[in-house]
Amino acid sequence: MAEDRPELGRAQRRHWQDTYATHPGMYGERPSAAGVHAAEVFRRAGAEDVLELGAGHGRDALYFAHEGFTVRATDFSVKALTQLSAAARAQGVADRITTVEHDVREPLPLPDASVDAVFAHMLLCMALSTEEIHTAVREVRRVLRPGGTFVYTVRHTGDAHYRAGVPHGDDIYEHGGFAVHFFTRDLVDALADGWILNEVHSFEEGDLPRRLWRVTQTLPS
Ligand SMILES: C[S@@+](CC[C@H](N)C(=O)[O-])C[C@H]1O[C@@H](n2cnc3c(N)ncnc32)[C@H](O)[C@@H]1O
Repeated sequence: MAEDRPELGRAQRRHWQDTYATHPGMYGERPSAAGVHAAEVFRRAGAEDVLELGAGHGRDALYFAHEGFTVRATDFSVKALTQLSAAARAQGVADRITTVEHDVREPLPLPDASVDAVFAHMLLCMALSTEEIHTAVREVRRVLRPGGTFVYTVRHTGDAHYRAGVPHGDDIYEHGGFAVHFFTRDLVDALADGWILNEVHSFEEGDLPRRLWRVTQTLPS
């Protein structure tokens, strides 16, 4: 593990806080394509509640709430969560969204088998070591009910920023102040060990464009 990793984590948290302060609502009000797809997958699976990790200012959490799900939205940026709560009140869905400040490197503050579905758009590819990513996915597995669904997206090694910018080891590169862990397909497969891997879908988002995989995996019932 790179020696600067704990300091990188703290610096990233400050960077995200500053970014949301200077660019409130930076991802826009419309849900992501991954969020719209996940809502459809969760609905078909009969899910009623969704845990979103790294929800930011909530473009997808708000969409899930409008679609009728009960949502727990987590992020380590309080600034982002404050914006999410304000939007939830303004849009009349505050009764369906709870925000929780949470660093995904820490255990989830939820009991075992207590949620139907988990969504994480561009969270697992943040400044996390491979070991921290495995631990986070084990936590997702712990809190999901049997048969529960996990939809996550990550930038991968086909992205234009892979191997560009400041290297921090473990396939993490920092570009414009944002550190990203670029996923290999082997990592996706390793994270699905013990799950049913339903889909690995390639897509692009944004102007760069960011190149991502959308992964759907379910727990055996
Ligand atoms: C690329 S943004 C995506 C935000 C949101 N999912 C969206 O697509 O609109 C990544 C988010 O993860 C959060 N984040 C980064 N590292 C985190 C960590 N260790 N624990 C919790 N949240 C983290 C950031 O604050 C940011 O909101």
